[in-house]
Amino acid sequence: LGSGKFFVGGNWKCNGSKESIGKLVSELNNATLEADVDVVVAPPFVYIDQVKNSLVNSRIQIAAQNCWTGKGGAFTGEISVEQIKDIGAGWVVLGHSERRHIIGEDDQFIGKKAAYALSQDLGVIACIGELLEEREAGRTFEVCFQQLKAYADAVSSWDKIVIAYEPVWAIGTGKVATPEQAQEVHDAVRDWLRKNVSTEVASKTRIIYGGSVNGGNSSELAKQEDIDGFLVGGASLKGVEFAAIVNSVT
Ligand code: G3P
Repeated sequence: LGSGKFFVGGNWKCNGSKESIGKLVSELNNATLEADVDVVVAPPFVYIDQVKNSLVNSRIQIAAQNCWTGKGGAFTGEISVEQIKDIGAGWVVLGHSERRHIIGEDDQFIGKKAAYALSQDLGVIACIGELLEEREAGRTFEVCFQQLKAYADAVSSWDKIVIAYEPVWAIGTGKVATPEQAQEVHDAVRDWLRKNVSTEVASKTRIIYGGSVNGGNSSELAKQEDIDGFLVGGASLKGVEFAAIVNSVT
């Protein structure tokens, strides 16, 4: 187990409206959350301010779902790390498979974003994960290690990085990885960090799992030695279920 608290993130992706997000926040405000877990929600950019202003549960932190690679300026449509911090978010999700495979972001671009975010003291939820055909071809570790290496090559400190292993075939499909499948990759990731970064980083970095996590499967996954939390998509849009996931991990 990575030292430190369990970490549970809710990635709301490109979902919600003022109304539905208002409802979700009030569910989160009414929820009792296990004290010993870091809880982070990632609303779409345009709702971050609304969420920040209406969340009364001050221990829920906020993440952005993307950021620009450097300081803001003439970059139409982008959002800078400075702006993300200004609005009160402490984290950013980077390298998500939807941005890699639908939007076309590559390792180098993602690495640059991670390095800049960390240089400005914004925490990074660094996603990695293989496609189904890569798993079937026996390339899971190779793909994950290559994505990890891109982060490792770009960043100078691991103090504010959480790694999210999200096998692409498990995302939004209802096909959750088995606890054994997830543990196998988490263990390999930790071993990679040990060999390629340091023993200290390997032991303290939290490695969280994402892909069809819900209130019914989270506690079995959480029992695995190297699973230090979750990044939840669909189930994080339901406040009561998300709270149940947070409370299932200890
Ligand atoms: O980032 C979380 C995510 O990709 C998992 O989504 O809907 O399978 O929980 P979901």
